[in-house]
Amino acid sequence: MSRVAVVTGAASGMGLAIAQRLASEGCRVAMLDLNGLALADEAAALRASGHHAASYVVNVADRAAIEDAYTLIRAEFGPIEILVTSAGIDAFVSFRAMTTEQWEQMVNVNLTGTFHCIQAAIGDMVDGGWGRIVTISSSSAQSGANRMAHYVASKGGVVGLTKALAVEFAPLGITVNSIPPGFIDTPMARRAEERGDLPSIDAVIARTPVRRAGTPNDIAAACAFLCSDEAGYVTGQLIGVNGGWYL
Ligand SMILES: NC(=O)c1ccc[n+]([C@@H]2O[C@H](COP(=O)([O-])OP(=O)(O)OC[C@H]3O[C@@H](n4cnc5c(N)ncnc54)[C@H](O)[C@@H]3O)[C@@H](O)[C@H]2O)c1
Repeated sequence: MSRVAVVTGAASGMGLAIAQRLASEGCRVAMLDLNGLALADEAAALRASGHHAASYVVNVADRAAIEDAYTLIRAEFGPIEILVTSAGIDAFVSFRAMTTEQWEQMVNVNLTGTFHCIQAAIGDMVDGGWGRIVTISSSSAQSGANRMAHYVASKGGVVGLTKALAVEFAPLGITVNSIPPGFIDTPMARRAEERGDLPSIDAVIARTPVRRAGTPNDIAAACAFLCSDEAGYVTGQLIGVNGGWYL
């Protein structure tokens, strides 16, 4: 798979595993994240093992920054063919205590950030007659989640955006799918556990039918399939990777 792939949230967790997986399959990978230090280290590690990778420090909620990064990516690697949007934030607050600022920040990053990243890239895919877009949503958009109304709404928006774009762009050779992860053992999940916002990982495992926590590599494997030529007849789908947590 010698494609040009953009992965957001690529400094950590699932985004990092997805970037590593796509690079190992031969993609030229542009890694985007706010966390410049970790991002630069991870991109350097990929290059040191012989892969094509470059890092771009951006806030996905900042359209101008995304456009600027894409200009550099096109110059370095060529037109964008694959886009995976994993950048995201979580937060836990009761609905009645939620401020408008908290709501807007969540929607700006998780939903509008996804919109910016896709809208600024999709012209390349239209011109090339081929594209793969995978959004990382959340199983909480399927099940609901306590004290996460803004997060769940933002991820539900990502699911709707995914389906709408799948319909609009399928005739043009572009597939758009979403992975709604269940509990995945990443820095985000560990931080939530440490704060007491999520139950302990052991408690989650006990309630998960496959009896283990999900790993970033579980997500990367599903994502690699959705980005492949073989997945050309799969679009507008939610491919749950959740150990049977939500069916
Ligand atoms: N871990 C889970 O159990 C779980 C479950 C369901 C959904 N998700 C979703 O999966 C995605 C990846 O999460 P993760 O667990 O790997 O988290 P993570 O915190 O390990 O990684 C997220 C990355 O996104 C980056 N990021 C955050 N805001 C950004 C912004 N505005 N611009 C650019 N980069 C930004 C962070 O710096 C970080 O590197 C997120 O969208 C998250 O909501 C996670």
